[in-house]
Order: sequence, then structure tokens, then C-alpha cells
Amino acid sequence: MRKPLLGLMLAALCSQAGAATPQWRPGLHFTPRANWMNDPNGLVYHQGRYHLFYQYYPYAKVWGPMHWGHAVSTDLLRWEELPVALAPDAKGMIFSGSAVVDTHNSAGLGKPGQTPLVALYTQHDGALAESNPGLHENQSLAYSLDGGASWTKYAGNPVLKNPGIFDFRDPKVFWHAPSKRWVMALAAKDRIQFYHSANLKDWTLASEFGADAGAHGGVWECPDLIPLTVGGRTRWVLLVSINPGGLNGGSATQYFIGDFDGQRFTPDDGGTRWLDYGPDNYASVSWSNVPGRALVLGWMSNWDYGQQLPTDPWRSAMTLPRELRLQPVGQGLRLVSTPARELARAEGKPRALGSGGSLAGLAGQFRLKLQAPRADSFRLVLSNAGGERLVIAYEAALQRYLIDRSAAGVRDFSDKFSGLASAPRLAVGGALDLDLVFDTTSVELFADGGLTAMTALFFPRQPYTEVALEGPSGTRLQISPLRAGKPR
Ligand code: FRU
Repeated sequence: MRKPLLGLMLAALCSQAGAATPQWRPGLHFTPRANWMNDPNGLVYHQGRYHLFYQYYPYAKVWGPMHWGHAVSTDLLRWEELPVALAPDAKGMIFSGSAVVDTHNSAGLGKPGQTPLVALYTQHDGALAESNPGLHENQSLAYSLDGGASWTKYAGNPVLKNPGIFDFRDPKVFWHAPSKRWVMALAAKDRIQFYHSANLKDWTLASEFGADAGAHGGVWECPDLIPLTVGGRTRWVLLVSINPGGLNGGSATQYFIGDFDGQRFTPDDGGTRWLDYGPDNYASVSWSNVPGRALVLGWMSNWDYGQQLPTDPWRSAMTLPRELRLQPVGQGLRLVSTPARELARAEGKPRALGSGGSLAGLAGQFRLKLQAPRADSFRLVLSNAGGERLVIAYEAALQRYLIDRSAAGVRDFSDKFSGLASAPRLAVGGALDLDLVFDTTSVELFADGGLTAMTALFFPRQPYTEVALEGPSGTRLQISPLRAGKPR
């Protein structure tokens, strides 16, 4: 999105006011210690550590000249924030991008015994955006020979120059084994471009996809192309974030399923499907170098109001790491999301709740599982003594899930912080199951084994202390406490 600098600077000054809100700091979701964060970047697993780089402005609680912040985790639950990895330079700000392990030193940047991590990112030149728009976003490269601790920008930057497209950004690079080449998916305004390269430095445009497919209510950003095996066959899932134009307003991430031959993505159809139907999951991309599973992470916010969220001294959290799979539904395939299995390690002993019970002592961090023998309507109401209520419901007549945060807590910080989000139930008939992960100011809903996912933020003035289930008999509710602990 376009972010005028002067306005941003003013907003930065205003945004510094505010009382600290430690009660709203999530326990399991990554947040920077202070200041502004947006998209996850450069997700790569290397030498036993999951790296999380992210769009970061270290000097204010609103978007500003972008850096790459950096955090690492060994278990996807506890994150350690490290010094900023990449800072703006004469070629521009450091916008979103990706990182890979260059195992065979294809770029020639390694040294004996030092496998390079290579990052590809967009450089956004703010001055050029004003004077010569269309040439201001180019793709650059940086590398690390010490496992991500320090980074050197490549002297030949940019490695991919803008042909004159105003929005030309967010390179996601992966190794395509069948063609023995690197492939880059790049967002180019209203479509995704695919490039290939033998050395991560010289890129050739192979094809474009999407000008006439999917949702187009806003600019396309942050693509990812992910191989997933289903029924013994490899299919490809293309994630495309869009802002605005999301189903529940503002930012959201859509996906396409199809084939990829190393050059061209051919979708099964051009329909619009959403990775997550809630208002607060944007820019999800996958970790590179994690064999056997597709692990993704998103920015748990929305450009509609992300810069007004009432937390202090930080602003924004990431979603939980999630695993993606494909599942046959009817004649086609659907994407299924579930929390990464590591979450189970943070879970305490589950207990049955009957039709409700106390949440006291859980500090807003718990996992609720609901199982119903039939897909009948129900409501789950979380509340506190201050009369605040978060409602999660299923409406059988309309076959839809709802998250109603209209009376859930503080929401006067933005008119766009919508009260109600809805999502279709994609499973057909049968039993219904819901997996809900609560972490202080967020709920992530995974229904029907993850066929429908929804993520929503809320800001209760005090933690919810009660949960009540209004639903048919035979519905079982179970709760387990969650606790991530300190980073190792
Ligand atoms: C998506 C996005 C990206 C861009 C980055 C800038 O949220 O607009 O397209 O690279 O944020 O911070």
C-alpha cells in the first residue's frame, strides 16, 4: 500500500503517547519488545533455528522507513528477539522478501565451511516514489555467513530492476528441484510474476498469473507458491495477499490451487478462496527449508486499523505458526490450516467443561476444543465482570461461523475495527469440531479440522473469567491452559 511519508512522521509523533499495556502482551505469539511490526519476512529454518525476520520500524509505533527485525526460535513457541538485521540504505527502505539456504553456493557468496543464507527483498525508494513512480521498487540481495547474525548487502544491488510497475515487490524465492533452478514469485500490482535464476542474482521473467483470477479489490502483495502432496501427487498452492478487498474488510490472503512446471502456474480454476476468513491474518508466507511440512506465519493485523491498535509499547503480533495441507472436498481440493503441532508442547492438562466454567487464573491463554455430534447452531460466550463479551458462534441456517467482538472490549481506536466477522462452513454435514486458541488479545479458530480458519483480535479491559456454551446437548467442551515459557 501507499504510505505517504509526511503523514507517517506526524502519526509517529502522535503515536508515542499511551500507557503501557503489559496485560495485552501475548504469551505465545511473537511481538517485538517495542514499536511497529508488519509482515513476516525471510522465514527460514537453519541449523536448528526458525528465523523470523519482519517488517519493522524501530523508532515509532506506526509504519515508517522499513527495516528487517529479527527473532529466532528453536520450538516455534518461544521467540528471542535479536538486533535488527537489515536497515534502509541509499537504495531505499527494506520491504518484504524471503530468505533461503544456498546449500550449493549457487550465488558464489559462501566460503569454505560457511553456508550462506541469502535474502531477497524489495528496496523501496521513497524519494523516487514521488519523483519517478514506477521505478521505485526493485529487488535486492543480502547474505549472511554466520547463520543470520550479520548481513552483507550485495554490491551489485538491485538484482532485479523494475520495468515500470508501480507496485513491484515482495519476492518469495524457493528451489525448484525438477528444473534445478531458483524460482521467485513477485507481486506486480494486480498479478504475480514468476522469475527463475541459476544463481539468485540474474533473474529471467518466465510468466505471469492472476490479472483475471481471484479477488481484485486491492493491490496484490506477498505471494508464496508452496508444493503440497495430496493423494500421492504434488499440487501447488499460490498464496496472494490483497489489501484492501478482504472478505471481512481491509487486508486478507487468498489462495489458488494448481500446477507449476517451473515456469508457469496453471490454476485448477480462477475462483476466490481465503486462507483465513477473519479480519486479522495478512501476508502469510512459508518457512523455507522445512522438509515435509508447509509451515506458515502471518501478520495478525489489518491495514485498516493496524496502526491504531491500543497496545503499548509495541504494535502488532504474528499469528501462530500454522501447518497447511490439502484436503479433497466434493470434487475439488481445499486448503486446511492447523496450528503447528509444536503448540501441544505448551498445553497443560485438558479438562472437560460441560456447558461452561471458569477461566480464572488462565491469563487469557488457553485452548478450547468443542465437538458436536451434529452441525447444529451454538454460541460460545466468553465474558468478564465488566460486562465485556466475545461471542463465537455457528449458525446452522446460514452454515456460517461467526466471531462477534462488538462488545469484547476496547474498540474506539478505529471505526474500521469491525464488530462481526463471518466465514462459511466448508465441511458437509456430519459432526462439527472447533479448535480455538486464545492468547490474551486474539482468537484463532480452526473449524472442521481446519477447513475454515478465522483470526480476530480483541482488547478486553480485564481478562475473560467465564466461558458459557449455549448449544445442543451432546456438545463437548474441553479446555487446556497454554504457556510458552521463556526462550531458551
Ligand atoms: C504488505 C506490504 C508489502 C510491503 C510491506 C511494506 O503488508 O505492503 O507489500 O513490502 O508491506 O512494509
